[in-house]
Parts: sequence; C-alpha cells; structure tokens
Amino acid sequence: MKTILVTGGAGYIGSHTCAELLATGYGVVVLDNLDNGCEAALRRVEQITHRKPVFVQADVRDKDALDRVFREFSIDATVHFAGLKSVAESVANPALYYDVNLGGSVALCDVMDSHGVRDIVFSSSATVYGVSSDDPIPEHAEKQPAQPYGETKLAVEHHLEELCGENAGWNAVCLRYFNPLGAHPSGLMGEDPRGIPNNLAPYITQVAAGFRDRLMVFGNDYPTRDGTGMRDYIHVVDLARGHAAAIRFLDENPGFMPLNLGTGRPYSVLEVLAAFERAVGEEIPYEIAPRRDGDIAIYFADTTKAEKALGWTADFDMDDMAHHAWHWQSKNPEGYPR
Ligand SMILES: NC(=O)c1ccc[n+]([C@@H]2O[C@H](COP(=O)([O-])OP(=O)(O)OC[C@H]3O[C@@H](n4cnc5c(N)ncnc54)[C@H](O)[C@@H]3O)[C@@H](O)[C@H]2O)c1
Repeated sequence: MKTILVTGGAGYIGSHTCAELLATGYGVVVLDNLDNGCEAALRRVEQITHRKPVFVQADVRDKDALDRVFREFSIDATVHFAGLKSVAESVANPALYYDVNLGGSVALCDVMDSHGVRDIVFSSSATVYGVSSDDPIPEHAEKQPAQPYGETKLAVEHHLEELCGENAGWNAVCLRYFNPLGAHPSGLMGEDPRGIPNNLAPYITQVAAGFRDRLMVFGNDYPTRDGTGMRDYIHVVDLARGHAAAIRFLDENPGFMPLNLGTGRPYSVLEVLAAFERAVGEEIPYEIAPRRDGDIAIYFADTTKAEKALGWTADFDMDDMAHHAWHWQSKNPEGYPR
C-alpha cells in the first residue's frame, strides 16, 4: 500500500485525515512544526486505528528537512495541510501568510519534484471565491478572494495548475473546503484552538462548557430563513474521507482538479446553535450583535463535481456534527493534554 506524506497532520483536519488514511491501509508520514498542532493528536490517531503514523517535527518551508523526509521514506503522494488559517491574522500580517502558505507550498513542490513525487492533494478553501454571486457556488465561479488568506490559497492553486500544465507527471487535487465542523465520533480527536476560537463550533462548545459567557451572533437582518448568516458546514470526518478519495482519484486521473468539499446544505447560525442545544441538552446563551464588515448572507457549495469525481458524499448531518463536537468538548474540556 502507498505511503502518504501528510504535512500539517498534527492539526484538526490533518489528524482526522491521518486516521482515515491509516484505517484504509495507507502508510502515513506526518511533517508538522506543531505551530498549531500537537503530538497528542497523533497518539489519538494511533489509539483509534491501532497503527502509528511516523512523525517528523519540521517546518514545511525547510527544504533540507523535506529532502531528508523524501530520502528516508518512500513517499508516493502528499496531502498538504500545513499552513496558517486565520483570516483576521492574514489581514494584519499578509507577509507571514504569503511566506508560510505560498512559500511553504512552493518549497514542498520543489522537493517533491526533485524526488519524482508529483501527486498532491492540497487544502484549499472556499475563501478563494470571495463574495460570489452564485448560490450554490460551482468550481468555475469567479475567484475574488477578499483577504490575503484566500489570496494565498488561490496562488498555491495557480502554482499547482501551472505545474500540472507544463510539467508532465504532476497531478493535483485542490479541495476547497467550506466550513469544517465536528469531531471524531470516538470523542478522542477534535478541534483544539489556542486562544479565542475563530470558528463557530468551538466557540459554541466553550460557551456551553462555561468557559465563555455567550455566543455573539453577528447580524439577524440578512435575507435568510431566520435573518442570521447561512453557511455550508461539513463534518471533519466527511472531509477526511474526501481526502482519502482524492488520493485514490489521483491514481487514475492525471492533471489538475479543483473540487468543492461541502454538503450543499446551508445552515443558519441559529440553526447551528439549536443543534448544539439538542446535543448539550441545555439552552446556550447568545446575543445579537451588528453585522460584521465583509460578511455575506449565504454561502454554500455546489458539490456535484466532487461527488461525481470522487464517488464521495458527505454522510453526517448538523445533529451529528453538534453531537460529536460536544462529545469531544465534554471528554477533553482543556483540549489535548500538552
Ligand atoms: N478549519 C477550517 O475552517 C479550514 C477551512 C478551509 C481550509 N482550511 C485549511 O486546511 C488546512 C488545515 O486546517 P486545520 O483547520 O486543520 O488547521 P490546523 O491549524 O489545526 O492545522 C494546520 C497544521 O499545520 C501545522 N503548520 C502550520 N504552519 C506550519 C509550517 N510552516 N510547517 C509545518 N507545519 C505547519 C500546524 O502546526 C497544524 O498542525 C489549512 O491549510 C487551512 O488553511 C481550513
């Protein structure tokens, strides 16, 4: 069976993908600098799958370290998660985002190429579309990222598309995630943000657990079912399964392929909150605040292309996402042991 290099494999989506790859028979080598991931997540991967991923602590921009990994292990393909993901931080410090997200990807591709490994699955993002006028959003929609984070994701996609076009042998799937949510059903792995969470789910579970006072809901006067913004949330295990399917896809489909990973079913903030209240069994306090600049009413994926290409569909619904996220939070109130 093939061996997959998973950069950023000690993070939220990466650890779930390692578990999926190991469970389906792949060998896994993780490269992560632990900037936002932790080794405990990889121990949980082993606990779930009874298989141990190899771990190398290194920065994806470090070409010497990458070179050593490709010399030491017989890598067949890469799943590339390593990067920074805060939209707000990317606005405050765009150079850092270009350095890590774009510079890291270029370094990785250079070293892969020099070792003749030219199959890659890349963690892209729905932010490449920016404020799209399409609902749902297909892959060919106009790309107008509204901030440096989305710009770096689109720049990496362009680099991969160029490699696939001009350099025979390169094959890339760019997975544009919508809104990852939830945790492993075992309660052993989940999202473990440092500091104030950027994403909705860890914020809600931290309010439910009493670590924060209330959820702020930004805007209730959007033209949606209940006035709050609607997004396409996808269970992190469905995302992980999408990566394993993309690795299999690369075996038989040469070239460049961008694909949306979402469910195609948008939920409002209040609907997500209601699902968490069902999971927790209590009301979760919230307060309506003014709209945030740049937020849009509704944003969801056209998943037709991914479903056809990958033979994949999202299995879990919002109640599953909320139950699993709450199970993780209750079993690990302080996150992973550090
Ligand atoms: N979570 C989301 O909402 C979301 C949405 C769309 C796309 N993505 C993308 O998916 C990928 C994974 O996201 P996540 O939510 O699992 O984030 P995460 O922060 O949990 O995981 C990223 C991992 O990469 C590692 N890393 C960061 N910089 C590195 C570097 N220079 N060298 C080596 N390792 C490095 C971190 O330590 C971490 O373990 C990211 O590229 C992110 O941009 C995430």
